[in-house]
Amino acid sequence: MNDLTVRQCAEILKEEDKLAALCNLTALLKEALPDTNWVGFYFYKNGELVLGPFQGKVACTHLKLGKGVCGTAFENRQLLNVRNVHEFPGHIACDSASNSEIVVPLIHQNRAFGVLDIDSPSFDRFSLEDEERLLEVAKLVSERFTAQ
Ligand code: SME
Repeated sequence: MNDLTVRQCAEILKEEDKLAALCNLTALLKEALPDTNWVGFYFYKNGELVLGPFQGKVACTHLKLGKGVCGTAFENRQLLNVRNVHEFPGHIACDSASNSEIVVPLIHQNRAFGVLDIDSPSFDRFSLEDEERLLEVAKLVSERFTAQ
């Protein structure tokens, strides 16, 4: 994933409607990151993570905090790049095709309010550059649409 994609994300985020903007953002990221089978958001609501806009197969709608890749990244407020999901304790398999996964927490004023989650059917799909770019995208999203 390159810098052009980050700039395209910034363009998409000029849309004022959160749902419309994030739906398009998942479509863009899915195109920009070949070899991915799921790209989407989960947002914090009433003590759990609830499914938001996504591209991919039907997914788990509610995730517990501190469990699985998403719940762990959210609770620790830290990006998780899991090279082999089958070795991650408590990994939640929404799509059995997934073999690696990256989860970036959305943080505003030191508080996590959601995650961006991307799955791949390949092992070790996500590079250091992907990590850096996706952190930039998560920051853009967090600046534009904070906890609400
Ligand atoms: N694998 C995630 C669950 C969400 S799906 O990948 C869309 C997890 O372990 O938290």
